Amino acid sequence: MKQKDFEVLLLPGDGIGKEISEQAVKLIDWITKNTRSNFKIIRGSIGGASIDEYGEPITDETIQNAKKVDAVLLGAVGGEKWDRLNFEIRPERGLLKIRKEMDLFANFRPAIVFNSLVNSSTLKPEVIESLDLLILRELTSGIYFGEPRGIEDISNGSKRGFNTLSYTTEEIERIAIVAFETAKKRSGKLCSVDKANVLESTILWRDVIIKTSKKYPEVKLSHMYVDNAAMQLVRNPKQFDVIVTTNMFGDILSDCASMLTGSLGMLPSASLGEMKNNKRLALYEPVHGSAPDIAGKNIANPIAMFLSVGMMMEYSFELPVMNNLIKTTIDNILKKGFRTKDIADESDKILGTQEIGNLLISELERVK
Ligand code: IPM
Ligand code: MN
Repeated sequence: MKQKDFEVLLLPGDGIGKEISEQAVKLIDWITKNTRSNFKIIRGSIGGASIDEYGEPITDETIQNAKKVDAVLLGAVGGEKWDRLNFEIRPERGLLKIRKEMDLFANFRPAIVFNSLVNSSTLKPEVIESLDLLILRELTSGIYFGEPRGIEDISNGSKRGFNTLSYTTEEIERIAIVAFETAKKRSGKLCSVDKANVLESTILWRDVIIKTSKKYPEVKLSHMYVDNAAMQLVRNPKQFDVIVTTNMFGDILSDCASMLTGSLGMLPSASLGEMKNNKRLALYEPVHGSAPDIAGKNIANPIAMFLSVGMMMEYSFELPVMNNLIKTTIDNILKKGFRTKDIADESDKILGTQEIGNLLISELERVK
């Protein structure tokens, strides 16, 4: 007898998003067969796929569904086909809209180095070995959403493009609380990244972070300017445990952190909303994009997607054991030398997207 029924909305999106989503379905079905939870997968469209079908990058119906289900799993959005579209209906707008509408302000982007991959990074093995850091990115405010924004005519055909970087006390406070709570459960170390030497919005950011820190005396707080943080991430990433930062800085630093792990194809993410009526809206997605250049060739790396499913099991369904099992199983596969092309050396056995998916399932069967 199954004890719990859950609904997962799957939004494969574009490019490799579709291929890696199919592998995620295999994994979720395996979890249904092997736990007392039943995961029902509902499908929807986002990005270019939704533009082709409905003329907009996400429909209101999809957003309503996303708010109803227990978790959303997203592949990736975007592609050349839609690059010339008006800004408001580009595929990326679909992603930004669903994050905003679901109020997913807390974006967890872990960068974990599997030691079997220390040689896949462009950095020296000793710099990244056993690295396990977490970037917590504010996701629903800052320069991505600030008003006013736009492109306006000034004179003689000259224009002005402008955006607004703004944060309110409440917006900073809620991400700060998540950051301190997370740091408390990990090593107790938190680094807040800002540009408080130049930008007022991040002067307020720093003030609110410091104020919140008073309630968490057990967490050791430090501050860093974003330019220095980018440099330190490459110089000595193991000095960090949890980094909390703004929407834009988090976007940039998380791509940077992904290369510490060898490939952008390895990084999962979780985006969470506030706890309301005992429920937290949540969306899980790999950090990488839709990689149109390799789409449809069965060579995309599905690992970031598997790890995103793992985060979903832990954060939304209270199955941290399953998250650990997925991570260990991936580590086993990598230790045996099986890789997709993006992380392979000459001596490795290169497999396709589907084959890595099949191997994950057979390895799960073996260790369960
Ligand atoms: C990410 C992506 C998105 C972002 C784009 C696709 C809108 O780069 O999730 O990091 O900038 O947030
Ligand atoms: Mn990004």
